[in-house]
Amino acid sequence: MKSQKTLSQDEITEFRKTVYHHWEYYGRDLPWRKTDNPYNIIVSEIMLQQTQVARVITKYEEFITTFPDIESLARAPLQQVLTVWHGLGYNRRALSLRKMAEEIVTLHDGRIPNNVTLLKTLPGIGNATAHAVCAFAFNQPVIFIETNIRTVFIHHFFSTKGAVNDSDMLPLITQTLDSRNPRRWYNALMDYGASLKKGYPNPGRKSAHYKRQSPFKGSRRQVRGAVLSTLVESISIAKDELAAALPFDKELIHSVLSQLEREELIVVKNGVLFIA
Ligand code: ADE
Repeated sequence: MKSQKTLSQDEITEFRKTVYHHWEYYGRDLPWRKTDNPYNIIVSEIMLQQTQVARVITKYEEFITTFPDIESLARAPLQQVLTVWHGLGYNRRALSLRKMAEEIVTLHDGRIPNNVTLLKTLPGIGNATAHAVCAFAFNQPVIFIETNIRTVFIHHFFSTKGAVNDSDMLPLITQTLDSRNPRRWYNALMDYGASLKKGYPNPGRKSAHYKRQSPFKGSRRQVRGAVLSTLVESISIAKDELAAALPFDKELIHSVLSQLEREELIVVKNGVLFIA
């Protein structure tokens, strides 16, 4: 079992070779990788928090075209931001992103902070996002873990162990980091993790932090709870989008929605749901 805390130089070299080899042949040409503008990077990272890469690509381009910099986003009416965001889901992120832009303009002179501590004080920026921004925008040798990185380290170093904690992996992430080019390294790691997920039984599942998406058909009560918590999280969401996002019987979801509307707990306008 390779779960020791210290890797040999050979193991580190071998691992980096594997990751960079994959990067060379299969690295993805994603639009937010063509820039080191911190604003663009923050927008992409917030979109990527809960949405698949393929879906983010077109929305990212549209968002950056509509709001090309922090000032234009800070000035934009919330309704316009939500309209461009529509389709990405979890609309609360759009609210946070706009609030973040306002805070950066008023508290940070329009400049995006270049350190994890300050980034984490901003709305919508958690630990992984703050670190990712430091790596991708500022090329800093930060140490962090997120879903794709987790997949790589479990696959390579914990293939026989049961549940794996992030604290088991962080020392290995530290030892293997290519500190000469953290931006390139983390891009390569994430793409490698994304490929591993497609080709192997998802190693991320062994993570003690993995949240399984259960496909079971819920009871009416469970569906009602899921609908309401998704709506609270999203602020507003299209009816069809909500039904597609939840792993429950679609007829049951629509029936629950009609009931919630009759009870005046939710409002439906042009196929879009709002909390009443
Ligand atoms: N997931 C989170 N950040 C990402 C990035 N920069 N590239 C690809 N997937 C990601």
